[in-house]
Amino acid sequence: MNRNKGIGVFDSGVGGLTVANAISKTLPEEKIIYFGDTAHVPYGDKTETQIIKYVHNIIDFFCTKGIKALVMACNTSSAIVLPRLNGRLNIPTLGVIEFASRMALETSKNERIGVVANPLTVKNGAYKRTIKNISLNGTMVFQSPCKRWVPLIEAGNVSGEEVEEIVRQDLKPLIDSKIDTLILGCTHYPYLIPTINKIMNHGIKIIDPAKAVAEHLKKSLEEREMLSNNENSLHEFFVSGDPEEFQKMGSRFFGGKIPTVKKVEL
Ligand code: DGL
Repeated sequence: MNRNKGIGVFDSGVGGLTVANAISKTLPEEKIIYFGDTAHVPYGDKTETQIIKYVHNIIDFFCTKGIKALVMACNTSSAIVLPRLNGRLNIPTLGVIEFASRMALETSKNERIGVVANPLTVKNGAYKRTIKNISLNGTMVFQSPCKRWVPLIEAGNVSGEEVEEIVRQDLKPLIDSKIDTLILGCTHYPYLIPTINKIMNHGIKIIDPAKAVAEHLKKSLEEREMLSNNENSLHEFFVSGDPEEFQKMGSRFFGGKIPTVKKVEL
């Protein structure tokens, strides 16, 4: 396989750019092919059947582009679709949930971990299952479904009174449960870290797995001798919705302007 092929990274919208950013810092010579399924964002109010269909279409799109690794920079897809793939793609395929769960278990001292995520990820229960499977102790997992966070972020609202009030309401049950570690169970949420920090007691540690995902990807490409040696690789960005909207928001959130975004009908 050609080592200079791209790495496919996808999400429902701009959230996965938090992971793409970490990949581009850790692996600056790699070309990222990013797909934002903005025609269907937010994923949190969809059904599992719908998510399976969307993600299979995205995987088919990446197959037409030719990629050497796939990163599901989306907790909902990682919860619902990754376990069903059973390693069927013949390339490294990474999700985010196991990384975040391991980091949280290493961080928590009181064995009370909180998870904020969209309603579908919460309902799926992937974090509870994963943490239970890894943990030797009876670590307790408290979840809070945050259905308003992704629409706010996609609209570019990450601070201010309205945002703070919504974040406060959704964090309250977790703070009341005396968690000492909070998993950001949606790749959009790192954009809200300053607001979350304002509300939460600073003793509570925040877990964002983006960097760990990028490190693991690096290791697995290294092992396969598949690291790119192209110093001039340019990332490519695709969406299923409005390309201009994504370019505007994405450039704000991605470390570096996004030059062009193409629309793809899936
Ligand atoms: N950013 C995605 C996640 O990590 C999807 C969020 C959404 O569209 O609800 O789950």
